[in-house]
Amino acid sequence: MSAVSAVVRGLGGALPERVVTNQQLASLVDTSDEWIRRRTGIVERRHAKAGETTSGLATAAAQRALASAGVRSADLLIVATSTPDKVCPATAPKVAANLGIRGVAAYDVSAVCSGFVYALATASWAISSGAVESALVIGADTFTRLIDPTDRATAIIFGDGAGAAYLSAGTADEPGAVLASTLHSDGTGETLIQVPRRDGAFFEMQGKEVFTQAVSAMSDSVHTVLAKVGWTADDVDSLVAHQANLRILNAVASVAGVSTAKVEIHLDRVGNTSAASIPLAMTDAELRGHRAPGDKVVLTAFGGGITWGAIAMTWPVVTVIDPH
Ligand code: COA
Repeated sequence: MSAVSAVVRGLGGALPERVVTNQQLASLVDTSDEWIRRRTGIVERRHAKAGETTSGLATAAAQRALASAGVRSADLLIVATSTPDKVCPATAPKVAANLGIRGVAAYDVSAVCSGFVYALATASWAISSGAVESALVIGADTFTRLIDPTDRATAIIFGDGAGAAYLSAGTADEPGAVLASTLHSDGTGETLIQVPRRDGAFFEMQGKEVFTQAVSAMSDSVHTVLAKVGWTADDVDSLVAHQANLRILNAVASVAGVSTAKVEIHLDRVGNTSAASIPLAMTDAELRGHRAPGDKVVLTAFGGGITWGAIAMTWPVVTVIDPH
């Protein structure tokens, strides 16, 4: 009997309606559309409005991922978020209840921009171990609520959104199979990206240092999963890296030896959506017909903690709805 693999069978994304352009930001802080495009690749992003919550966006993305897979429930529900609706309880049980799912294991993963890769890897471990048959993995964040609107280093980068994937047990030769993963952390870097617990605290980021560490950590973890799965960098059809800055995406690809033509780019329209960025970029790549079932794909992310990791998988058979 062949070993059980977790197979992605559904994808979905959800975005707030409110579009915030570079020009709009340039009227609030000392920046320009030209600077933001040239230094980050971002053109516009979405901001959640009052009443639009992380759990609401997560629920909408999850509904689409379940519909995309043609199922109604999952044995395990993980929400990767660092902007939960409340300090406690976790967001995942609420999202499960919103979906009409009761009684299943549901918990949050807090790994900032690496959250989706953390949640997808651990869900795939749970499925391949036989502990559960299926899982719904959601990345959802509303970081714009924690951004200082006058901080031009962070206000230009972040946007809100959610993305989700449904996985169930299958085999490694099926399109969508999760084949290898690697997860890492280094808490000595905890102040590089943080929201300190004090009244009125905003999101703080040491942009330059984050840039350098993100490139080296993501390219290292791409090499690690390639070695685990036995692919060369040339074998990779698609690199779905956390969408933080176009210059970071291209640098990760070149250091990892993957052609920059294979980098999926979604940040131009949504900015950095933290834990939502990878499933949203995958949904976008599918919508734009960039990928075919069975293509060899590497996902990689870097985020606060610091945390980072990568996953090697094949492109799933999915139909998706445009979240824009
Ligand atoms: N508009 C105009 N000028 C800006 C600016 C903005 N929004 N932000 C910074 N600048 C200025 C700086 O003041 C500096 O001016 P100076 O040379 O006169 O001092 C100059 O541009 C260069 O600043 P620097 O901080 O070196 O910019 P950068 O090229 O590193 O870009 C970031 C800044 C934040 C876009 C970039 O560092 C970055 O993307 N970092 C990683 C972000 C990330 O990935 N975060 C999430 C990870 S999970």
